[in-house]
Amino acid sequence: MLELRAIDAAYGHIQALRQVSLRVDRGEIVTLIGANGAGKTTTLMAISGLVPPCRGEILFEGRPVGGLPPEALVRLGICQVPEGRHVFPDLTVAENLDMGAFLRRDRRQVAADREHLYNLFPVLKQRRHQPGGTLSGGEQQMLAISRALMTRPRLLLLDEPSMGLAPLMTRHLFEIIIKINKEQQRTILLVEQNANLALQVADRGYVLENGRIVMHDTAAALRRNPDIQKAYLGI
Ligand SMILES: Nc1ncnc2c1ncn2[C@@H]1O[C@H](COP(=O)(O)OP(=O)(O)O)[C@@H](O)[C@H]1O
Ligand SMILES: [Mg+2]
Repeated sequence: MLELRAIDAAYGHIQALRQVSLRVDRGEIVTLIGANGAGKTTTLMAISGLVPPCRGEILFEGRPVGGLPPEALVRLGICQVPEGRHVFPDLTVAENLDMGAFLRRDRRQVAADREHLYNLFPVLKQRRHQPGGTLSGGEQQMLAISRALMTRPRLLLLDEPSMGLAPLMTRHLFEIIIKINKEQQRTILLVEQNANLALQVADRGYVLENGRIVMHDTAAALRRNPDIQKAYLGI
């Protein structure tokens, strides 16, 4: 579904990605793990068109999409939930969800999708008339993910959904991420510093160090790998 072929990306003179190649197949959860500053966010930004790669190729469903603006990518079915839960603080929960559907004209289906998300995240339904900014951190993350789902993405890019959340909330959120993948059949590229959890939910994983992919394998194999255990799993 998605293929990155030897992507380089830079911020001015700082080269953030070197020869990054990865693949996400339809229906998978693929995780990209790595330390702070490894280049995880930059990889997602490159895919979603916010940091255009200076070298390499990005293919979505077999066609080159490198250099397309973010809105065009949303239309193709690629949607990113950025790091740090960006919700519109002054808009209500329901209005935030509507913002996710702004490119859509199928009003009836939009309403049905909203109901479906309220079933997935009942707390959002309870709080639907409340401003987004008054939600807890975990609820805001749920709202940010839900807003992205309102675009009906075929590929959902999640940047550190667990950041700043209590362990129990993180676990709950990851259970829902699995549901989004299995029940809604959304393909997911999951960036996480919490490698432990990420490798529990993912099918496959890539390890990023200093802007380079240093390893990739099934999530199960990565969990058993002593180097990964030592560097990322605290075992
Ligand atoms: N806007 C920016 N301007 C300059 N350098 C940046 C910017 N964003 C990230 N970087 C640098 O790019 C590298 C990769 O960052 P990032 O992709 O955010 O890593 P991660 O998400 O894995 O923590 C880091 O060295 C970081 O300092
Ligand atoms: Mg990051």
